[in-house]
Amino acid sequence: MMSSLPIDLDKVPAAEIDRAILRAGIIAELDAISLYYQFAAKAKLPKIKKVLAEIAREEKTHVGEFQALLLELDKEQQRELAKGKKEVDEM
Ligand SMILES: [Fe+2]
Repeated sequence: MMSSLPIDLDKVPAAEIDRAILRAGIIAELDAISLYYQFAAKAKLPKIKKVLAEIAREEKTHVGEFQALLLELDKEQQRELAKGKKEVDEM
């Protein structure tokens, strides 16, 4: 259901550790969004569905926080993200 951490942080070079943590954080937050939406779809009580959907929305903010930090530290990611958006916009 949840992704396992794709890296062993103990093996990540010190110069890469912050970027690796931020990428792993983004993965965890995206997993959480998916999980909460799946829970919301299955829950019976409307109040539970509503809270789960709200929590999923909050997790999207967390993705944004990690992404903003990662883009400060990874200029290649920043360029490629913009390039990907441009390619989609042009479709
Ligand atoms: Fe979160």
